[in-house]
Amino acid sequence: MILPIYIYGQPVLRKVAEDITPEYQGLKELIENMFETMYKADGVGLAAPQIGLPIRVVVIDLDVYADEHPEFKDFRKAYINPHILEKKSEEISIEEGCLSLPGIHEPVKRKNRIRVKYMDENFTEHEEEIEGYLARVIQHEFDHLEGKMFIDHLSPLRKQMIKGKLTNMLKGKVGCSYKVKTIK
Ligand code: NI
Repeated sequence: MILPIYIYGQPVLRKVAEDITPEYQGLKELIENMFETMYKADGVGLAAPQIGLPIRVVVIDLDVYADEHPEFKDFRKAYINPHILEKKSEEISIEEGCLSLPGIHEPVKRKNRIRVKYMDENFTEHEEEIEGYLARVIQHEFDHLEGKMFIDHLSPLRKQMIKGKLTNMLKGKVGCSYKVKTIK
């Protein structure tokens, strides 16, 4: 089932998301719906707050980059209760976008190497060291679970330059091809 994507201004995007327990009802279906919603919107990552749920669930599919990065062939993963343990190495700047911020693309500085812990959809625990583009996507998505969005990382000048677009989103003026939920 394709769900509407919550747009900038929705309070759920600013909440710290909660861990879930193995008793959480309908997790498999939720994960399927999140993948379906993300594919429909041409995204590579989606966090549960973006569909209105303040819980720690993230889906990522990087198969679209498999031509350039063979390691991402069939890379499709759900992260349950993820947390970043450590951020290492130097920061690098790469342009990012977000399904909750349609029409905004800005370079964001992030660490290239991180250590994370999470559970898979069967609640098996994993701890991994991740680098490169996946580390980038994970930091973006896990930020959503802390109530953060990528625009929070921008300089005051860049923030000023996207202000008009953000104001339009708050007014419900959003031009994108997927189903959204604005505050107006
Ligand atoms: Ni995002």
